[in-house]
Amino acid sequence: MEDQKTYKRPIRSFVRRTGRQTPSQQKALETLWPVLGIEHTPEPLDLEAVFGRTAPTVLEIGFGNGETLVQQATENPDQNYIGIDVHEPGVGHCLLKAEEAHISNLRLLMHDAIDVLTHQIPPLSLSRVNLYFPDPWPKKRHHKRRIVQPEFLALIDSRLDSNGTLNIATDWANYAEHIDEVMAQSVRFFCAERREHDGDQPLDRPRTKFERRGLRKGHRIHDWCFKKSNKS
Ligand SMILES: C[S@@+](CC[C@H](N)C(=O)[O-])C[C@H]1O[C@@H](n2cnc3c(N)ncnc32)[C@H](O)[C@@H]1O
Repeated sequence: MEDQKTYKRPIRSFVRRTGRQTPSQQKALETLWPVLGIEHTPEPLDLEAVFGRTAPTVLEIGFGNGETLVQQATENPDQNYIGIDVHEPGVGHCLLKAEEAHISNLRLLMHDAIDVLTHQIPPLSLSRVNLYFPDPWPKKRHHKRRIVQPEFLALIDSRLDSNGTLNIATDWANYAEHIDEVMAQSVRFFCAERREHDGDQPLDRPRTKFERRGLRKGHRIHDWCFKKSNKS
């Protein structure tokens, strides 16, 4: 059924929080954003021009403070990384970490990931999408705001190349059930790996800030790697 739908999405998966920005984050937004930031426009990006090379491109949706993203970009200099988040202080923090790491394979967008994927990310251009600890929207009446929905999978499927993977992690048991259900109904992806653990066995990612917070509260962590079934 997801095949017939186009992505019309008035319901956003986030509420824009203002949050406090440190002076160094503010400065990073002024001086580093012009170098590492990509503005949202309705036109598809030329990724070869953006990175000055052709390389597998990994996209992280909702990178938070960006430390996991910067660490992965640093450890994989042969891959391009794109991070998307709407939270300005987090973007400032990520810019500072990227500067400290002296990396040139990372670019950031500060806009709704759904709009970015729809308009700016070209079809079949990504090798991997990471969605680590998406906002859980625990109240039942807010479940419709959860980003993992059939339309989201259709969009991700259209942007991943044929060997592409979608990697998800959450510490919310009820969101994990929701992800299992939505993914099980999808003809687009199959589950290549699934792990439930106490923070000691993530699939292939550094621990994130929200993961640490979940672990402090005694939550179990769920990690999945989904591959494209290439049947759609
Ligand atoms: C719970 S936090 C997790 C942050 C980080 N991945 C971690 O594990 O520490 C979720 C993040 O996703 C971002 N976010 C939620 N929906 C988004 C969307 N549609 N586009 C861009 N960012 C989004 C939020 O601003 C927030 O920073």
